[in-house]
Amino acid sequence: MQTIREIATLRQIIKDARHRGQTVGFVPTMGFLHEGHLSLLRRARAENDLVVLSIFVNPLQFGINEDYNEYPRDLERDSALAEEAGCDLIFYPAVKEMYPRGYATFVDVERLTSGLCGASRPGHFRGVTTVVTKLFNIVTPDRTYFGQKDAQQALVIRRMAADLNMDLEVIVMPTVREHDGLAMSSRNVYLSPEQRKAAPILYQSLLQAKESIKKGERSAAAVRNQIIQNISAEPLASIDYVSVTDTTELQEIDRIQNQALIALAVRFGQTRLIDNILVEV
Ligand code: PAJ
Repeated sequence: MQTIREIATLRQIIKDARHRGQTVGFVPTMGFLHEGHLSLLRRARAENDLVVLSIFVNPLQFGINEDYNEYPRDLERDSALAEEAGCDLIFYPAVKEMYPRGYATFVDVERLTSGLCGASRPGHFRGVTTVVTKLFNIVTPDRTYFGQKDAQQALVIRRMAADLNMDLEVIVMPTVREHDGLAMSSRNVYLSPEQRKAAPILYQSLLQAKESIKKGERSAAAVRNQIIQNISAEPLASIDYVSVTDTTELQEIDRIQNQALIALAVRFGQTRLIDNILVEV
């Protein structure tokens, strides 16, 4: 497995692979890999000849008071894990390789980015869609893999790829969880032992909501309130949002019919965690 820092070098390797008729699978990440990332890599390994992983903590998608500087980084550990999962190439660019002096171009997906995390993190998705477009242009994948953990991000990327006629397939994989249900996240390392103990309340409250819906609850407001009550009972948790939306346009709904996405963001101290489930009736 090779680690490459320059765009030109990576392009040449990929060009040579394509020349040999190889297909390219791509997993974009910000590193500090966990089983969630590795599940994407393994799927990419199974479906492509060449598997490329990018590790880039993208400054453009962090707000001014967010955790860009603190975001955990460990290339050595990531390399070992990636290799074991079948990765062929790690693309690990410097910030100035991606955003050289004079950089001025941005990609913005409208509408889908206005609610949920888009509302509490202005500019976040513009940063994501810009860097992902650049990465797609550099790696030119046949298939790219995203996690349902970031449900809104996955939909935004799908929309962008369709709208901009990007010639690739976007595959979305299920959320990988810890044994107690907490969705795996690089940010979980920020949690104090007490916060870590309390954090499974997110998934528990989503499962309870799913159970109520199964029993016949159809009011989105009632489901939302149930989750809010549940999480508010945990003194270490502070709710950013709880949303019940349709599964394609991410518009808040009144009645739960067919499919719905229940998504939430909750803070434990400075650490903001997100989770979601899809429900079907
Ligand atoms: P990052 O948070 O590192 O996540 C990289 C990919 O792993 C994303 O597609 C994310 O949804 C997926 N992922 C994270 N946790 C997961 C889990 N518990 N189960 C399944 N998949 C999981 O998302 C980003 O980086 C960035 O925004 C990026 C797309 C790389 C652009 O900078």
